[in-house]
Parts: sequence; C-alpha cells; structure tokens
Amino acid sequence: MSLEFTQDFLDRLKRAERLVFFTGAGISAESGIPTFRGKDGIWNKMRPEELASIDGFMKNPELVWEWYQHRRKIVNETQPHDGHKAISALEELYDVTVVTQNVDNLHRRAGSRRIYELHGNLTRNFCMDCRTEFAESEIEYGSKVMRCKCGGMIRPDVVWFGEMLPQDEFLASEQAARDCDILFVVGTSAVVYPAAYIPIGAKQEGGYLAEVNIEPTDATRIMDVSFFGTAGEVLPQILAKARELKKSA
Ligand code: OAD
Ligand code: ZN
Repeated sequence: MSLEFTQDFLDRLKRAERLVFFTGAGISAESGIPTFRGKDGIWNKMRPEELASIDGFMKNPELVWEWYQHRRKIVNETQPHDGHKAISALEELYDVTVVTQNVDNLHRRAGSRRIYELHGNLTRNFCMDCRTEFAESEIEYGSKVMRCKCGGMIRPDVVWFGEMLPQDEFLASEQAARDCDILFVVGTSAVVYPAAYIPIGAKQEGGYLAEVNIEPTDATRIMDVSFFGTAGEVLPQILAKARELKKSA
C-alpha cells in the first residue's frame, strides 16, 4: 500500500522540528499483541474490573498475577516491528517524543529515547506496602503472588482502572503535545481518559494532528489528516518521505 500525502502534510513534515507520537495498543498489534477493543479485543473476552483494577487484585490476586504473567510472556516473545522502528529512526531528523498508553516496553526496545508511559510498564513491579521497585529479573514466576521482604504483595507497575496516571509524565506529555509541530495519533481508539485528552488538548491549542489507524476512530473528526492503514505499513513510508524532504531542505 502506497500512501497519498497531501501538500499541506508534506510542507509541515518538511518544516517540522518537533514530533510527538501518541500511541495505543494498535501500534503493537502487528507485533502480535492483541488490542483491547475491536473484533478480537481483550475486553470482549476478559473483564477489566476483574483483571485491571485494585478491587479485582484484592479479591483475587492469584488470577490477576497469572494474567499479568501471561501478558509479560507474550510481550517478551514479541519484537518491535518496522512501525516502532520508524518512530525511533525519526530521531535522526526531529526532536521526537513518544507518549504511549502501552505497557509493553516495545518503543524502548525499538530504540526510542524520550518515552512517557501514561499507563505504566509491564516489565516493572513494586511492593504495594513499602513501594520498593522490582525489576523483571527479580521476579519469580509462579502461580502465587510474589511478596516483598516486608510482607507486602508485589504488583505490576501499570495503571489500573480508577487509578491516577503518573502526574509528571502526564503533564510533560501534555506540554510536548502542545509544543510539537505534528502530533501523530497512532493505533488508539482514543476513548480512555485522561490519556485521550492529549490530542484534544493539542488541538485546542491550534496543533496539527495526523492519525494512523486501520479505521476511523472517535478522534478522527479532530484530525487534520488521517492515514488509514496499519502502523507497520504507514510509519515507514512517513519516515522515508521525511528523509527525502529533509535531504532536499
Ligand atoms: P484499543 O484496543 O482501544 O484500540 C486499538 C486501536 O488500534 C483501534 O482504534 C484499532 O482500530 C487500531 N488498530 C488495530 N490494529 C492496528 C494496526 N495494525 N495499525 C494501526 N492501528 C491499529 O487500544 P488503546 O486505545 O490503546 O488501559 O486503549 C486505551 C487503553 O484502554 C489501554 O491503555 C488500556 C485499555 O483498557 C489501561 O490498561 C489503563
Ligand atoms: Zn515491601
């Protein structure tokens, strides 16, 4: 699939200095990680209140622990694809910030350097009582919830429903989205708040928004341009075009 670029988009891509990529589960779909919504979405089969909430964890810690182990295993067996890599390669040409709702660590593994993880990161864990952090290598996998030296239960460092987002990262993300020349909104249904305020806030400040998704979303109506296709197909073409434009600048 070869993309059609509007002249307006090309002019902006040529002039731009700062790019922000606001990403969601769809960017990791081609790596083999299921998305949450849509046809084969996780939340069609699983209940978020059981698996992704503090109440769910307190009621049935073993179930939640097992579920996150399952997700870690999937993530560890997958690789970032050409879409993730295109975003990190754009750092050759631009000041790039990644604002992600994903907890899968794939942007980091693809080499992106400035990443704000609004919903945490699956590869980190911490003790619920004393807040000690545990790296993945320190975690013993088994069906029992692991406990800290202090006796507290260890949980994944992800944001569950009803929990606060990391405030510093959220504020820094809002700022980056407001200050950038193009905000790319990639592979997200943009229905989960407060994360979904990031594109809305940028738009209100007069920002230029470009969407990459396989289909229209709730955010499509506020986009300046939409590229319909998979992240793995579309992002490398944007990278190639940016290289061409910057070379001739
Ligand atoms: P969703 O599952 O809601 O949306 C995934 C989006 O990706 C949809 O708009 C799809 O059309 C699109 N998509 C699927 N495959 C794609 C591909 N190959 N290329 C491009 N786009 C593709 O995922 P999120 O928007 O990330 O929250 O969901 C937001 C939050 O809801 C998640 O962070 C998680 C979840 O509950 C927490 O865990 C707190
Ligand atoms: Zn502890």
